Amino acid sequence: MKSELGICYYPEHWPEAQWAEDAARMRATGLSWVRIGEFAWSLMEAEPGKLSFGWLDRAIETLGAAGLKVVLGTPTATPPRWMIEKHPDMLAVDEAGNPRKFGSRRHYCFSHKGYREESARIARLLGERYGKNPHVQAWQIDNEYACHETTLSYSRAAVEGFRDWLAQRYQSPEALNRAWGNIFWSMEYSDFSEIDAPNLTVTEPNPAHVMAWRRYSSDAVVAYNAAQVTALRPLTDKPLIHNYMGRVLEFDHFDVGNDLDIASWDSYPIGFLSDRLTDSPEHKRRYLRQGDPDMQALHHDLYRAVGKGRWWVMEQQPGPVNWAPFNPAPLPGMARLWAWEAIAHGAEAVCYFRWRQAPFAQEQMHAALLRPDSAPAPALAEAAQVAEEIASLPEIRPAQAPVAILFDYASAWAWETQPQGADFDYFELVLDTYRGLRKLGLSVDFLPLDANVSDHHLILAPGLFTLPESLKASLAARDGITILGPRSGTRSPEFEIPVPLPPALPGLDSTIALTESLPPSAPEPLAQGGAVLHWLERLEGTAEVVEETQSGQPVLTRSGGLHYLAGWPDETAFARILTRACAELGLAVTEMPEGLRCRDTESHRFYVNYAPEPIDFDGVTIATAGVTWKDLP
Ligand code: GAL
Repeated sequence: MKSELGICYYPEHWPEAQWAEDAARMRATGLSWVRIGEFAWSLMEAEPGKLSFGWLDRAIETLGAAGLKVVLGTPTATPPRWMIEKHPDMLAVDEAGNPRKFGSRRHYCFSHKGYREESARIARLLGERYGKNPHVQAWQIDNEYACHETTLSYSRAAVEGFRDWLAQRYQSPEALNRAWGNIFWSMEYSDFSEIDAPNLTVTEPNPAHVMAWRRYSSDAVVAYNAAQVTALRPLTDKPLIHNYMGRVLEFDHFDVGNDLDIASWDSYPIGFLSDRLTDSPEHKRRYLRQGDPDMQALHHDLYRAVGKGRWWVMEQQPGPVNWAPFNPAPLPGMARLWAWEAIAHGAEAVCYFRWRQAPFAQEQMHAALLRPDSAPAPALAEAAQVAEEIASLPEIRPAQAPVAILFDYASAWAWETQPQGADFDYFELVLDTYRGLRKLGLSVDFLPLDANVSDHHLILAPGLFTLPESLKASLAARDGITILGPRSGTRSPEFEIPVPLPPALPGLDSTIALTESLPPSAPEPLAQGGAVLHWLERLEGTAEVVEETQSGQPVLTRSGGLHYLAGWPDETAFARILTRACAELGLAVTEMPEGLRCRDTESHRFYVNYAPEPIDFDGVTIATAGVTWKDLP
């Protein structure tokens, strides 16, 4: 199947008389998919049990009759006001203990059993009515789990759910006390009912307690999603999808993804650069109207893994957004580039957010394909161009990359719990690793920890909280090069320092004897150039040393293909380490010009130019905000 384009549409925001014209215009633009319904609960059910689906029947019919395929959203991210009357204790509670009030969205607590049932009920009603509707070709469950920091809720329902979860996991309070080390500071419990959420403690809570809470909270998202999946599955054979977000690690997306058919995510490149990245002001100025050159691709590759190969962009930024600290407009061409980049990474569909800019309520300042007066906004013509280009090209199929990064959500929770250095951040470490690879022109896959590790020439495993023994063994046994660290395998699942001391890799005699974190002002220079930032582990042992500090302290050691990296390399050091590994593997690398990135598919090499100037490379000129592809031999 060729990739397709789509649009997010809110029929409930516009007069019914306008729907047919909108639908015809969507088709004329070359759009195939339209996502609707995900916030419309108050119109579907104005009072408990008072259902009105007539408007939705007509909307689906109008859109479908125009030739559009509908993605129908379950409206559970926006429980209506009456729901709060019915379940006053369903509101999520923040870390300070305050209920999060009605008046925007995502105000529910994942652990609340009553709300979980209400969500399954509305999903079932929609499934019964539209599960076999020929126009409804896919489903979106809820909207952006975790958005607005809503995974962790400190409600009564969550604390009760946590206690049950703990009782199942540990079986007895004594076992829990031992596992957590609660003898420290007299924190022992004699009954599960005594255990609370780890908020509002005087100083830091036990990291094992926090880690359990994080795992429980992630499992609550999984269970909440599964309740809707269970309701819908028997009623439809169409794919079930969730739209994940950028740089959101609060729950385990692999676990949620296991219950779904397709992963999708919402890509807002310029919003993310302003709001979610910590790069230098120079970097942010250079990429102000394009977004970071690696942020989107990283998520495309990660969510391809979450979707086991099947993934979409459910929302694509079309122009300025409303929610970042600053909201510049994209350079002309970026709405096309972002879509093509997603397709080059294997997206089955890219849907722009949204059709027409809303003149009312919260997102008035958010651009769309149309202005509020229905005149075209700049992205409309770019979307139409992408649709024409897709039609003119053969199907683009993703290829397996030569390199993979092992990725693990629990590692993000662990290092948030115990950063040890104020700027130690799991996502940033993964992003730096990913950037280092992409700057050498490499295509990258992500793998969860239970994946097969024998298919990639080079595997990087930065910052993994725990390393299961089985994974250590398969990494040590595989062909190719594996680089683990920094910090990988330095804790047990119960947040203890394992003995023998980490990383304890089979056949690699390197032991972490001491760990230090480094402030930004104190990088540790390396003998061959570049430096280690943020984090440096002192290694003992007889393993061969590949990189060392200027003072002779080992930083990268190896035994055969198995390497341990004891620090966080800067850009120069990463480039050298990765280039050396690729040379040894016979993998071709090309130093990419600043802002140019490439991605290989089965048939083509795609170049996307994020730089604010045109770039001559590989015999072609790639325009500013341009995309070019070449046939692969
Ligand atoms: C997403 C969300 C949409 C809309 C959009 C604005 O996070 O799913 O409903 O709010 O952001 O950029």
